[in-house]
Amino acid sequence: MINVRQFEWTDFDAVTAVWEATGRDVVTRPELEAKLTRDPELFLVAASDDEVAGVVLGTYDGRRGWILRLAVHPGHRRKGIASQLVKELEDRFERIGCPRVNLLVMPDNEAGLRFWRALGYLPYPDVLCSKPLRSGV
Ligand SMILES: CC(C)(COP(=O)(O)OP(=O)(O)OC[C@H]1O[C@@H](n2cnc3c(N)ncnc32)[C@H](O)[C@@H]1OP(=O)(O)O)[C@@H](O)C(=O)NCCC(=O)NCCS
Repeated sequence: MINVRQFEWTDFDAVTAVWEATGRDVVTRPELEAKLTRDPELFLVAASDDEVAGVVLGTYDGRRGWILRLAVHPGHRRKGIASQLVKELEDRFERIGCPRVNLLVMPDNEAGLRFWRALGYLPYPDVLCSKPLRSGV
């Protein structure tokens, strides 16, 4: 039985473990503290028998929703957990009036791209441009 719910701080170590197990960059505690000052209801975990099996971090900038750091522990894949996380996040985006959702996938992440296509997310040709405004980020 999968229970998708809002992140709580007691989930922090388990969420970090899921990101580490999937090779994803870990969002640090200070970064999460800053994120949770805005739309905390968009940071979700999926618990299987009280064990955190998946995580997704949503943000809303007032115009577009963004889906970040979706990850499901390798031992829990292909059971629909990521789909449930994204569905719940999409429902929450809709409830706050968000009309469109974007996300970024590494071009060599074939499994990730297949997953997103299966859920109706289509690639756009835009190239991500980025500039750090302080060192170490
Ligand atoms: C991508 C990821 C989140 C999918 O999680 P999941 O819980 O296994 O996904 P679901 O079970 O909800 O899959 C839904 C559908 O997506 C597609 N899909 C999922 N994983 C796939 C894979 N490895 N290869 C091909 N298609 C895949 C399938 O159509 C699947 O339906 P099916 O199992 O009935 O065939 C997970 O593999 C993961 O954490 N990967 C590492 C991190 C990552 O790539 N994140 C997403 C990119 S930002």
